[in-house]
Amino acid sequence: MFKKILKWVGIILGGQVYFTVPGMLTIPTPNLTAGAGGVGATFSDEDWVRAIRHGVRPDGSALFIMPSKAFHYLSDEDLGAVIAYVKSLSPVDNPMPERRVELLGRMMIGVGMFPPFAADWIDHAGQAPAAPQPGVNIAYGEYLAHICTECHGANLNGAPFGPPGQEVPSPNLTPGGELAAWSEEGFIHTLRTGVTPSMQTLSEEMPWKSFGQMTDDELKALWLYLHSLPAREQGGMK
Ligand code: HEC
Repeated sequence: MFKKILKWVGIILGGQVYFTVPGMLTIPTPNLTAGAGGVGATFSDEDWVRAIRHGVRPDGSALFIMPSKAFHYLSDEDLGAVIAYVKSLSPVDNPMPERRVELLGRMMIGVGMFPPFAADWIDHAGQAPAAPQPGVNIAYGEYLAHICTECHGANLNGAPFGPPGQEVPSPNLTPGGELAAWSEEGFIHTLRTGVTPSMQTLSEEMPWKSFGQMTDDELKALWLYLHSLPAREQGGMK
């Protein structure tokens, strides 16, 4: 069930019914194309920016699950490239059901069983910090690592991961974890193949197929950043 929540990284751009608990909630991931039922048919550039950077719909309501907390940091250039890309998609006709949250679903959200709305976290009035120039350096690695904090925790030392009540800690990516013994080469190989230097095959809950498409320089910058972090103990579980 939680696997479905996490499908956002491999976003199916034509939309899908994303997460349904009968009697509780139905959360579709919208069809992003300009086909029937797609938000691309009506979204202006401002609407795209508001949704991606702020986690807010054109009508002002907050988007659920959408990881805008990480996307908030995207540079104007990168955000522009994402928007240009989604606008270039061939239209897919796929009308989606409405988002529905029943009483029980609202209670589950209320007691914090789901990730909070990104929109509640983002400083909408303030500016996101200026994005660093792309390059093989720690600052650019930190910029790229924002998306990793969604699952590996704000300090990247692991966070609870899995269905409510059955969480396991996601791995510690600081030098306090297994990565301390890895080389840059081993790290890049892991993200490209899903197999770690200790020959562990990563599940697809770790979106290595997407992240493995980063360039060598991007992965090197990420590695420099992760390796520069203080060695923190495995975090995540209370
Ligand atoms: C959608 C959630 C998610 C995101 C986002 C994510 N990861 Fe992961 N990652 C996981 C999970 C879950 C595992 C454990 C998978 C397993 O053990 O099969 C993992 C495992 C790893 C491992 C293996 C660690 C070890 O000790 O074996 C590395 C390395 C890693 N992730 C790097 C990254 C980096 C770098 C990013 C950001 C670019 C990132 N992850 C973003 C969920 C995520």
